[in-house]
Amino acid sequence: MLEYYNNKLKIESCELQEIAVKYGTPCYVYSLQQLRSNYLAYANALQNHGHRQQIFYAIKANSNLTILRILQQLGAGFDCVSGGEITRALQAGSIPEKIMFSGVGKTHAEIKMAIELGIHSINIESAEELIRVHAIAKELNLTANIAFRVNPNITIDSHPYISTGSHNNKFGIEYNAAFELYKHATTLSNLNICGITCHIGSQITSLEPFMQALDQILQLTQQLTEYNINLSFIDIGGGLGINYHNETPPTIAAYVNAIISKLKHCKLTPHIEPGRSIVGNAGVLLTKVEYVKTTANNNFAVVDAAMNDLMRPVLYDSYHEIMPAIIKPQASIKKYNIVGPVCESGDFLAHSRDLALAAGDLLILKDCGAYGSSMSSNYNTRPRGAEILVSGDKTYVIRDRETIAQLMQNEQNIDVRSILV
Ligand code: LLP
Repeated sequence: MLEYYNNKLKIESCELQEIAVKYGTPCYVYSLQQLRSNYLAYANALQNHGHRQQIFYAIKANSNLTILRILQQLGAGFDCVSGGEITRALQAGSIPEKIMFSGVGKTHAEIKMAIELGIHSINIESAEELIRVHAIAKELNLTANIAFRVNPNITIDSHPYISTGSHNNKFGIEYNAAFELYKHATTLSNLNICGITCHIGSQITSLEPFMQALDQILQLTQQLTEYNINLSFIDIGGGLGINYHNETPPTIAAYVNAIISKLKHCKLTPHIEPGRSIVGNAGVLLTKVEYVKTTANNNFAVVDAAMNDLMRPVLYDSYHEIMPAIIKPQASIKKYNIVGPVCESGDFLAHSRDLALAAGDLLILKDCGAYGSSMSSNYNTRPRGAEILVSGDKTYVIRDRETIAQLMQNEQNIDVRSILV
């Protein structure tokens, strides 16, 4: 998807330099071709096993409406973690039956919305939530479709902030408590118990932990069947990692094949909730060097993107490969720290990269399609950049650059003199 041609970096058939001139920087740029091929890798692998359309894309990874519409057109359902994400899924054209609702802190209003819509499943994460969902369903005189998100207590080799499936995490129902809770749920009138889910974390680069989690979940499912609690789906969550920097995750096909073969004696329909592996390598962050600054200990390239645009480096110490939009063959290479204009020393995008840089140069950070734009903020009153979709030699603005006026529009123009008296 990214290739140099005459020393100019292209995404599909578009030069990134031209995109910067046309739309300004910083901006996120996505390749439709890569997005589609990632989704189809899941869809085709599942289809090879006779399972169609059981992919619930995790909206949190990238919630741009155009991206959601594309995935919806390709057949995706959606995994949502807020009323806002459910609204986005509907806005993107999803039917409620293809929406799942996960998350530890669902509010009364969000649960009511989900039950009224009749979504595929509300994934329950605590005993208290079960009681709340049932009470709301009863009040509405409706039946809520539910699954339990079970925490299988698996330790994964990923950043601690994105591990979710161990008993140290806030997520899911403790494995040993799940059976009793399922039993209790059968006594509640307004619930349709339809599945079991788990999600053990993100950026997982080996199959092992998924297989361990599945073994646990299957054991529980067996126990439930013996008790005559018959589910219709089993959801292994998301979590498949991508290659940011020398990681060697399994391919999407290998991941799907491993899951399906584990489930071959199980009658439940498999569901998956991938986020990162669908959008991660489909997006880049395009930024311009404002200044090059050399101090006694460091060379800094101060760029126009910052931690508010891409939070992953400071939050998870994440690595994003950096490529210049134009290669300057004669220029001398130095080690640079790539930093933004935000007033925090944590405002860095990369450390110690070999680059030949001068003010005005354009850089791209690779693999920013997932948890880039969706985690961005307006810190330092910085408007978020545009988002551009590329298909072949065409570009589409899928989110306008914010204006400073927009950032202030919800703040009332109160005459503070009257407060100060
Ligand atoms: N399902 C549930 C219930 C989740 O909590 C998540 C992600 C997913 C699916 C999708 O997981 P994925 O396939 O994207 O790994 N902001 C972090 C990642 C946080 C992931 C949270 N949960 C990052 O930038 O690395």
